[in-house]
Amino acid sequence: MAALVFFLLGLIVSAASADEDAFIGVNIGTELSDMPHPTQVVALLKDQEIRHVRLYNADRGMLLALANTGIKVAISVPNDQLLGIGQSNSTAANWVSQNVVSHYPATNITTICVGSEVLTSLPNIGPVLVNALKYIHSALVASNLDRQIKVSTPFASSIILDSFPPSQAFFNHSWNPVVVPVLKFLQSTGSYFMLNLYPYFDYMGSNGVIPLDYALFKPLAPNKEAVDTNTLLHYSNVFDAMVDAAYFAMADLNVTNVPVLVTESGWPSKGDSKEPDATLDNANTYNSNLIRHVLNKTGTPKLPGTAVSTYIYELYNEDMKAGPLSEKNWGLFDANGVPTYILRLTGSGSVLANDTTNQTYCTAKDSADEKMLQAALDWACGPGKVDCSSLLQGQACYEPDTVLAHATYAFDTYYHQMGRTPGSCDFNGVATITTTNPSHGSCIFPGSDRNGSLLNSTIPAMDSKSSGSRANFLYGDVLSAVIGVLGWLTVLL
Ligand SMILES: *[C@@H]1O[C@H](CO)[C@@H](O)[C@H](O)[C@H]1NC(C)=O
Ligand SMILES: *[C@@H]1O[C@H](CO)[C@@H](O)[C@H](O)[C@H]1NC(C)=O
Ligand SMILES: *[C@@H]1O[C@H](CO)[C@@H](O)[C@H](O)[C@H]1NC(C)=O
Ligand SMILES: *[C@@H]1O[C@H](CO)[C@@H](O)[C@H](O)[C@H]1NC(C)=O
Ligand SMILES: *[C@@H]1O[C@H](CO)[C@@H](O)[C@H](O)[C@H]1NC(C)=O
Ligand SMILES: *[C@@H]1O[C@H](CO)[C@@H](O)[C@H](O)[C@H]1NC(C)=O
Ligand SMILES: *[C@@H]1O[C@H](CO)[C@@H](O)[C@H](O)[C@H]1NC(C)=O
Ligand SMILES: *[C@@H]1O[C@H](CO)[C@@H](O)[C@H](O)[C@H]1NC(C)=O
Ligand SMILES: *[C@@H]1O[C@H](CO)[C@@H](O)[C@H](O)[C@H]1NC(C)=O
Repeated sequence: MAALVFFLLGLIVSAASADEDAFIGVNIGTELSDMPHPTQVVALLKDQEIRHVRLYNADRGMLLALANTGIKVAISVPNDQLLGIGQSNSTAANWVSQNVVSHYPATNITTICVGSEVLTSLPNIGPVLVNALKYIHSALVASNLDRQIKVSTPFASSIILDSFPPSQAFFNHSWNPVVVPVLKFLQSTGSYFMLNLYPYFDYMGSNGVIPLDYALFKPLAPNKEAVDTNTLLHYSNVFDAMVDAAYFAMADLNVTNVPVLVTESGWPSKGDSKEPDATLDNANTYNSNLIRHVLNKTGTPKLPGTAVSTYIYELYNEDMKAGPLSEKNWGLFDANGVPTYILRLTGSGSVLANDTTNQTYCTAKDSADEKMLQAALDWACGPGKVDCSSLLQGQACYEPDTVLAHATYAFDTYYHQMGRTPGSCDFNGVATITTTNPSHGSCIFPGSDRNGSLLNSTIPAMDSKSSGSRANFLYGDVLSAVIGVLGWLTVLL
């Protein structure tokens, strides 16, 4: 059973000045069988101190609930309204009047996303995209809101080809007739290049060529870092490489001053048997590291110090999403507002209302060799000075009587005895740190400050009703990434 642990997540810096530099926002998808009421959604956002959100539409209830909260809102023109807006100035003006003017400034709408991944999901609408952007923008100009509200359109990263090495990236030339005028529009209106960026899919599609650690922002051995042989820039994570690929692809079209805004990125916490890396720990690691990376203003190797603000995909697990199990499990929360996992945000300054990173545990790896586990267990209960009495027959942690379960108990106890120093959860590589409380029944593990009762909270049963706006992603992005990465890394080997 996947144990869930409560956490308290405060995402966003409160200082307004920091907002201008870099922010973390959250996408709010609504394909839930029990979608919370807008007032509940906003209550969750406030509790968690989430100050930037992106909606996939311009839902009136949400915009009203977000009024006077200080939360900054990106709204969207849904793809199914794009054709009408791209063909008619007055339709665009009506849309802006109804969905923007009537809510602003009480609701702080800062951004309008015109469509979503239009070229890759609805290519036949591509030709009207530029006009849709221009018409929405001119309606904002007419309402004197064009300086407060930016207009752009999120692209799937699959539109960028040969992303690795980043310096060779370029836009799929088939789309230059759309991309070139879109970039000119973004340049002339001071807007962003919006990119949906999923290292998870790049990793999944790479057949092992992309190391998991590289996708998860984990430290890499220097000889494993990817080097762009044209620029000699070192890349230690997929996210930075993809953002730089976007900058290089724009530069290839002579556009150099349009900042990248990542409109979606995340990692699923649960998957089916073909998705072994959609786990709570990986989702936690990716999103925690992503948040730290963005708020640290590290920038990318190409543009160090330039903020790459990012909206995490996504606030809620969407149980009605079609596709593999992972599609329903990208959320930071379930429909009840119960966190899926505890983000580990230590060291990212004042972004957390509550530092919950004390809730970490050391556990034996499922995949570990049993002999090595036994040796590590013997060591922990002997020279390691762990009190292993509760592993004896009849004691609380005897069941299940497996080396794996007993080793986990001993490792976690040792880890906490040693003050949770990083090196104290290794045991020759058979142990790993987790946020999942391994306590069960009356066997309470060190570090579980809530007495194991948290095991009671589970993700509600998921059903599989269909829909799904992001389905095409699984194909396009992976293919281009695989092809690109294979080429690049092969050179390095
Ligand atoms: C932080 O923790 C305290 C005590 O557990 C709680 O009352 C408060 O609501 C939490 N704050 C947030 C933002 O979660
Ligand atoms: C659309 O409307 C704007 C003003 O709202 C105007 O400047 C522009 O010329 C119009 N374009 C067309 C094609 O009608
Ligand atoms: C909306 O957010 C922007 C960006 O942070 C800020 O400059 C502006 O003052 C806010 N507007 C309102 C009405 O709160
Ligand atoms: C480029 O875009 C065209 C049109 O959508 C598509 O048919 C083609 O497969 C794309 N090329 C690559 C390499 O993805
Ligand atoms: C970019 O600039 C170069 C040099 O000025 C020019 O040759 C090239 O045609 C330009 N490319 C585009 C897509 O505008
Ligand atoms: C934050 O930035 C500093 C300097 O730019 C860097 O040394 C540090 O490793 C960064 N931390 C994280 C978590 O990225
Ligand atoms: C976390 O643990 C450290 C040392 O174990 C302790 O000093 C600190 O107060 C703890 N923080 C919280 C929020 O419990
Ligand atoms: C844990 O639960 C037991 C039995 O319910 C209770 O006696 C004990 O005080 C609890 N410990 C903590 C730390 O809450
Ligand atoms: C466990 O969860 C169920 C359903 O959410 C609830 O009715 C029950 O009281 C919970 N048990 C404990 C011990 O918290």
